[in-house]
Amino acid sequence: MGRSAVVAIKYTACPSFKHRCSLQRRVIRADTEIQINNKAKTTVGQLGCGYWGRNLLRVLTQADDVDVRRVIDGAPAAVEHVNSRYPGLETSPDEAVLFDDDDVDAVVIATPAADHYRAARKSLQSGKHTFVEKPLAMNTAEAEALVSLADEEKLVLMAGHTFLYNSAVQEVKNLIDSGDLGEIYYIYSRRVNLGTVRQDVNVLWNLAPHDISIINYWLDDEATSAAATGGTFLQKGIEDVVFATLSFDSGAVANIHLSWLDPQKVRTMTVVGSKKMVVFDDVSADARVTIHDMGVDMPPSQISANLFETFGQFQVAHRHGDTVIPRIPYPEPLAEEMKHFIQCIREGSVPRTGGQHAISVVRSLEMVQACLDETRSRLTA
Ligand SMILES: NC(=O)c1ccc[n+]([C@@H]2O[C@H](COP(=O)([O-])OP(=O)(O)OC[C@H]3O[C@@H](n4cnc5c(N)ncnc54)[C@H](O)[C@@H]3O)[C@@H](O)[C@H]2O)c1
Repeated sequence: MGRSAVVAIKYTACPSFKHRCSLQRRVIRADTEIQINNKAKTTVGQLGCGYWGRNLLRVLTQADDVDVRRVIDGAPAAVEHVNSRYPGLETSPDEAVLFDDDDVDAVVIATPAADHYRAARKSLQSGKHTFVEKPLAMNTAEAEALVSLADEEKLVLMAGHTFLYNSAVQEVKNLIDSGDLGEIYYIYSRRVNLGTVRQDVNVLWNLAPHDISIINYWLDDEATSAAATGGTFLQKGIEDVVFATLSFDSGAVANIHLSWLDPQKVRTMTVVGSKKMVVFDDVSADARVTIHDMGVDMPPSQISANLFETFGQFQVAHRHGDTVIPRIPYPEPLAEEMKHFIQCIREGSVPRTGGQHAISVVRSLEMVQACLDETRSRLTA
């Protein structure tokens, strides 16, 4: 299957806004085909079996069309986990036994983010279709290099942007694409809790890959400028809280609040359109998506010109219609994600969260990080 046009974007600090960063676009075109591998069972090896890798291993071992060959992780806790839950499944601390095994078709990588580029490069160079947890890499140049390598080798490269396999996220995407929400004005997202405090990456690189991936998918676009500020309260140089604003050429704006230092667990994203508004609440048991038929119906010219003569007219301009909670089937997103990876290998197709999507996320992360670095250096100057 042919690959579509690729838009690569380079960021530069914008001189007119001290802590605002923007992008310069350049276009690269790649047209390659992916090898088709439609064996009855796809043979998979996994690299990294920590907190998240265990979830990946669970869904892989439950899939009928997957044969998990071995797990590479030298940590005693990982080895103990595999031995106790999956007797007979081989473990090794030596990744060469995985990459040199010609029977292995694909590799799933769930090592810490800083290792993704190295591990994915090795995997692709060994001729394996490759799934890499988010983020694909820690900078755009490395993400682009991985995508070029996958193209050259005609292999599937997919990033673990799990939310794009979440049926509630898909429901919002359908509402946006059908025009039900009208023009998308803005999106804001809160992903906060008193969570795992990581030392290898800051809260931006840990959590924002989810928000940015969802926003880019919903808008079918990528931000061209950003402004951000953060706080490093627990560890020197590692942001625990980030407030980032992304601007899109369409005029849409997105704000993301991230924290692992917060009293409440909140996972909400609100989309405000010209016709309707939607709230996606990932931790709600019974209302993951709520559609509000609310808005302001007056033409923008009238609103901006303050042409309401009476308080009554002002109220009429606000529309308060029905609130609807659609019934959405909810298969496990991670199982859907792995199913998609295997399907892409069997069909030779480009994943929804393939290289181009993953690059767009890394580019935005890098742009926001540049804003954080700029703000921090101004504050400490
Ligand atoms: N998609 C999601 O929703 C989601 C959620 C959580 C974490 N993640 C991602 O999963 C990845 C792993 O996160 P985690 O929380 O499981 O981390 P973790 O620290 O719990 O686990 C990492 C594991 O990798 C092993 N490891 C490190 N280097 C290795 C190497 N070279 N070869 C083999 N094993 C190696 C470690 O021993 C450890 O067991 C991260 O990239 C993270 O961003 C994704």
